[in-house]
Amino acid sequence: MMETPVRKAVIPCAGLGTRFLPATKAQPKEMLPVFDRPAIQYIIEEALASDIEDIVLVTGRGKQAIENHFDKSFELEHYLKERKQYQLLNKVERIAELADIYYVRQKQPLGLGHAISCAKSYLQHEPFAVFLADDLIYSKTPAIKQLINVYKKYNCSVLAVEEVPVEKISHYGVIKPVKISESVFKVEDIVEKPKASEAPSNLGVVGRYILMPEILDILSGVQKGKGGEIQLTDAIKILLKTKPVYAVKLNGKRYDTGDKLGYMKASLEYALRDKEIGGKLKKYLKTV
Ligand code: UTP
Repeated sequence: MMETPVRKAVIPCAGLGTRFLPATKAQPKEMLPVFDRPAIQYIIEEALASDIEDIVLVTGRGKQAIENHFDKSFELEHYLKERKQYQLLNKVERIAELADIYYVRQKQPLGLGHAISCAKSYLQHEPFAVFLADDLIYSKTPAIKQLINVYKKYNCSVLAVEEVPVEKISHYGVIKPVKISESVFKVEDIVEKPKASEAPSNLGVVGRYILMPEILDILSGVQKGKGGEIQLTDAIKILLKTKPVYAVKLNGKRYDTGDKLGYMKASLEYALRDKEIGGKLKKYLKTV
């Protein structure tokens, strides 16, 4: 039987970004620029490069800048046209044409699991991708496409994982894996933010998922878990009782841009890779 293609994605953007205060007091962390574009634009570009064109963003109060970024900007386009700044005009126009983006509000930040369930009626009965916008993954094959490739093989939910150093493992959802190949694992169990001594492996879940639609019904019944939030991990744990779940170790470099150091590394390295700025920046860095 052919698997249903993954055509839809949900990007939860309703978190408060407390790790990045005060920068995120009045502006969404997803709009902080990583080199020359807001973090969320890289995520949309990754979805499009993986043939996902239907995207729902779960937003909250104070997140209007995201909607404005992906909308047309008549004044700006008019201004650039008048001044014949066609290269810039092209860049600005392209953003609004990138994808069909829908918006739904999470009225209270009750957790990642709750944010995803806010998009339930839009997601319907298809497998869907989840992107956490904090995690930027620089890779040859787009990260979500790496997951889709595994989904196509096993026709079930797939999580992205990464080897995490022991001192950081308690910040992650951690899987109990059965190794299938160098980078693919069958998930036997999953634990949200375990103590290092209780972690079932060093494989922590990072911000990309392919989820089967059953997860949405499960999420509606999940009680508040760690941190008083509706946790996606708790729903995946229930899903595991009846359906297989796989995990894939991503091939690429991940940056946690929700963290100040991770954000600085991302911004710097994306700039260093740029043809125009990269060389000059490298030269400058040697002087500081
Ligand atoms: P995080 O816990 O990493 O994000 O949630 P946060 O709450 O924004 O950040 P800090 O920890 O306070 O700095 C992971 C993802 O889930 C979304 C966030 O926007 C982020 O992309 N999220 C989280 C929601 O959409 N709603 C929530 O209620 C919680």
